[in-house]
Amino acid sequence: MVLWSHSYRAMAFSSLVFAPESRHTSATIVSRDVVSTVLSVVTLKPRTAALVEHAKMNHAATAAGTCRAKLAMVPPGVLIAEPRIRIRIPQSGTRVTWLSYNRAWAADQSAGQRSAAGAVGAGKPSCTMSQRKRYVVVGTGSRGIYMFARPLLTTYTEFCELVGLCDRNALRLEAARRMLQTDVPADTDFRRLLRKTNPDVVVVATQDNTHARYIIAAMSAGRRVISEKPLCVSARQCRAILAARDRYRSAGAECFVTHNMRYAPSVTQLKRLLDGGAIGRILSVNFHENLDRRHGADYFRRWHRMKSNSGGLQIHKASHHFDTLNWLVGSTPQTLCARGALMFYGRNGPFRHTRCMGCPHCGRCELFVDMWHNPQKKMLYLDAESADGYIRDGCVFDPAIDIEDQFAVLYTYANGVNVTYSLTAFASYEGWHIQIEGTAGRVELREVHDTRWAGGTSVVHGLERIAGRQLTLYSFREGVREIPVADEEGTHGGADPAIQRDFFARPADAPLTDRQAPLEQAVQAVLIGHAVNVSIARGGRPVDVQSLLR
Ligand SMILES: NC(=O)c1ccc[n+]([C@@H]2O[C@H](COP(=O)([O-])OP(=O)(O)OC[C@H]3O[C@@H](n4cnc5c(N)ncnc54)[C@H](O)[C@@H]3O)[C@@H](O)[C@H]2O)c1
Repeated sequence: MVLWSHSYRAMAFSSLVFAPESRHTSATIVSRDVVSTVLSVVTLKPRTAALVEHAKMNHAATAAGTCRAKLAMVPPGVLIAEPRIRIRIPQSGTRVTWLSYNRAWAADQSAGQRSAAGAVGAGKPSCTMSQRKRYVVVGTGSRGIYMFARPLLTTYTEFCELVGLCDRNALRLEAARRMLQTDVPADTDFRRLLRKTNPDVVVVATQDNTHARYIIAAMSAGRRVISEKPLCVSARQCRAILAARDRYRSAGAECFVTHNMRYAPSVTQLKRLLDGGAIGRILSVNFHENLDRRHGADYFRRWHRMKSNSGGLQIHKASHHFDTLNWLVGSTPQTLCARGALMFYGRNGPFRHTRCMGCPHCGRCELFVDMWHNPQKKMLYLDAESADGYIRDGCVFDPAIDIEDQFAVLYTYANGVNVTYSLTAFASYEGWHIQIEGTAGRVELREVHDTRWAGGTSVVHGLERIAGRQLTLYSFREGVREIPVADEEGTHGGADPAIQRDFFARPADAPLTDRQAPLEQAVQAVLIGHAVNVSIARGGRPVDVQSLLR
């Protein structure tokens, strides 16, 4: 069985082929540039570590050459899925780095190259340097680092090159550079960084209410933008972003939003069922989102808890769900009414302090957290507090909290589909439940997560017995059927690596996939959340969602 790996690094690699030879556990790695030592090969799936026992490049430092690496623990004929190859690069100050298997490239190449099994040098790079785009990441909090900067630096190097980092907090910016082990330019001034680095693409992963300013600034400079969800926090910001895109489109401005829920394996499967006509025409939808007191509380510890920062959970959190519903139903939201309140956190708490660290109530507060055991979190947040006063472990019972922790929504799509939606952020268990009724049947997706407190106990005793995921089709033609859903590796149930592959493992000008959310679709998700806010503020009165764009 042959396994191909291919990756680019700006200076170190132009091509790499990794092919276990037919009979035994050795691999041949061909590099046209400079690699001194192969240190190890680690596979992600299955979790087998394949240690390189003997690996030295047999070529002079600057010439092309071949390296034979003997892999322990890999039986002959086993497919090593998604290997990562650790190499030493002498010119870069003997830097140790990782190369990752590029699934997209491998898939493209496999048919043609399988016949050349094991042939040294059979892999040809599919990408020219002009297809590699320069990326800047704005916002070096946890999402900016783990979802974007690190994968861009280590995994998606064939089509992407990280050239700069930006954050308003200089200390966090420096912490991010240390964590990423990179010396790419970092600046608190976005426009200066743009001038310095001249990126093709700007990735925005800042606090939600600041997305709009970076999206607009980047598009005004004719750049492509990939923004975290939500696109922004208000209809006014949506209008400004749309106007900027229209104005600078001819200069290259465009914007996409990483709505990763579309990539969750269960949602992907659900969409497939609906598109395949499994329940006929959709007639109505119920969607209930439960955030338990471990996960839900986290939105009340920091910036999300102020509506001006996040648009409330209606936009910050529910934009995932509203986008998914728009995508599944395939229509435009029209009239909506909603009710909501702050029922559990904020002023409702029995006691309060400013933050968990040093809290006198820690012994009796079920929501107390000590997050500073985690050295990376400490470096990123606690050690950077002095620069901007951002407190990561704020008290969830702070009376200043102004977002709702429970709301219920009723709205209608242009195609007549009625939706009921609810979100509860203090629920007894974590999970969600979607029920979609159609002309030919019904489909239900239910997920229950057995969330654990830091000590390892379930949020609710006994939850482990019912935790899991169920996708069930109730078809008038076929009867009741459980639909299998693949288990994927990676954060958000495998949704994050999947969306990364769509955006970063293909040339930037590759045709869009159905799951890459363009600006207009991202706008619709924010508009529903904004309409929920307006309706709640008006005591549940109906709001015309599309009128918010005018
Ligand atoms: N898709 C998902 O599943 C998912 C998950 C988590 C977060 N997110 C999104 O990712 C983004 C970041 O979330 P996070 O959890 O990393 O938050 P975070 O608080 O850890 O990081 C936010 C960063 O933005 C920076 N920032 C704030 N205001 C800024 C400004 N005006 N200019 C420059 N930088 C500024 C902060 O200093 C911080 O470093 C948010 O938009 C959030 O909604 C998405």
